[in-house]
Amino acid sequence: MPPDLPFDAAYWQQRYVSGQTGWDAGAITPPLREYFAQLGKPDARRILIPGAGNAYEAEYLHAAGWPNVWVADLAPAPLEALARRVPDFPAEHLLRTDFFALQPTPAFDLLVEQTFFCALDPALRPAYARQAAGLLRPGGTLMGLLFDTEFEKAGPPFGGSRPEYEAYFAPYFDVQHFETATNSLKPRQGKELFICLKRKPLIDGDE
Ligand SMILES: C[S@@+](CC[C@H](N)C(=O)[O-])C[C@H]1O[C@@H](n2cnc3c(N)ncnc32)[C@H](O)[C@@H]1O
Repeated sequence: MPPDLPFDAAYWQQRYVSGQTGWDAGAITPPLREYFAQLGKPDARRILIPGAGNAYEAEYLHAAGWPNVWVADLAPAPLEALARRVPDFPAEHLLRTDFFALQPTPAFDLLVEQTFFCALDPALRPAYARQAAGLLRPGGTLMGLLFDTEFEKAGPPFGGSRPEYEAYFAPYFDVQHFETATNSLKPRQGKELFICLKRKPLIDGDE
C-alpha cells in the first residue's frame, strides 16, 4: 500500500466491500464478554464503541438489555450490516462519523476499544487518548484491548507496546488494568493488552 494512502471512509468502506476484514472476529471476543458480564444489571449508562466495524459487542449488549449503546464508524457497510442483523437496534445510535468529530453531549460512561486504535495512523494516538478522555465523564472508563506486538507488514494494523501507550494515556487516565490479556482469542494470545482506564476528575479542556 502506498504510504500516503489516507485511511479514510473510502478506504475502510472498500475493505468491507471487498471482504478484506481479517480483524473481524465474527462474534464478541472473550475479554469484552467477560468484562461486560461483571458490569451488573443493564442500566442507563452510556456506552460508546468507536471504530466499531460489525460491532458484535453492541449486538451483545443490546441483547442483554443495555439501552444506551452507541456505535460509531466512518464506513457505512458495517453499520448497515448491524442494522440488518439487529433490526431493533436504535437507528439513531448508529453514528456514521469520524471518532474525532464526536461530541460529549452528553458524556459517555464507558468507551470500548477493540482493533480501532491500531487501525489509526500512529500519529493520531495522542489525539485518540485526548478525544477518548474528552468524550467520557470524569471517572468514566476506557476499556478494551491494544496490540502488544509489531506487525511485519505495513499497517493497518499498526503495532506498539505498553510503555508507548502508557505515555499517551497518562495525562488523562488513571490505570486500573494495563496488562497482558489472559483470555484473548487464540491468534491474539500473548499479543494484546487488556486495558481498563479511569478518566481523571479534571483534565485539560474541562470547564
Ligand atoms: C480494524 S477495523 C476494527 C473494527 C471492529 N472494532 C472490530 O474489531 O471488528 C477499524 C474500524 O475503524 C473504522 N475507522 C477508522 N478510522 C475511523 C475514524 N476516524 N472514526 C471512526 N471510525 C473509524 C473503520 O471503518 C473500521 O471499521
